[in-house]
Amino acid sequence: MSKRSFPLSKVYGLLEPGPVVMVTTARKGQANIMTMSWHTMMEFEPPTIGCVISNQNHTFGILKSTRECVINIPTLELAEKVVGCGNSSGRKIDKFKVFGLTQATASFVKAPLIDECYANLECKVVDGGMIAKYNLFILQVLKAWINPDKKDPRTIHHRGMGVFMVAGETIKLPSKMK
Ligand SMILES: Cc1cc2nc3c(=O)[nH]c(=O)nc-3n(C[C@H](O)[C@H](O)[C@H](O)COP(=O)(O)O)c2cc1C
Repeated sequence: MSKRSFPLSKVYGLLEPGPVVMVTTARKGQANIMTMSWHTMMEFEPPTIGCVISNQNHTFGILKSTRECVINIPTLELAEKVVGCGNSSGRKIDKFKVFGLTQATASFVKAPLIDECYANLECKVVDGGMIAKYNLFILQVLKAWINPDKKDPRTIHHRGMGVFMVAGETIKLPSKMK
């Protein structure tokens, strides 16, 4: 197989781990949404997720102080709103209003669920030890919600510079992995 050298700055697009998600936070009754693709599963149960959230983002300060958020998983129909929430800041606008998204009340956290997303994970920060060095928040999922009617959710996966891969075909193979 012939290969060419690949720029290090583009490596993240090869390894993009999972669907692009929308992180909701809330402070003093004001909710915000941030688009995020840098996340990874770290444990099955309790589900534990590592997330890199830039300290330049409004979400960073809210999450650091409230220590809770919701990870909302959108599908293809929401793609433009996902990109919109990733190119604007809650410091300047109310993203729920601007992008026409609906807040639903969570059970365990003050941050709202995005009703239009097919799955929502209520999370708390369980380890903040790597926030200062890596902007890395370790979250534990307290409660998960899913729309049972969405059988093959067409999640979107960021490949860099506004290019997304859309989840498509599902295959099942014998595997010992849970
Ligand atoms: C597809 C996509 C993926 C993104 N992934 C991340 C991410 O993993 N971590 C991060 O800090 N910002 C990420 N961003 C950028 C933030 O969403 C963006 O800076 C946003 O304006 C922050 O909003 P806030 O200031 O309201 O928190 C992403 C943006 C897009 C469009």
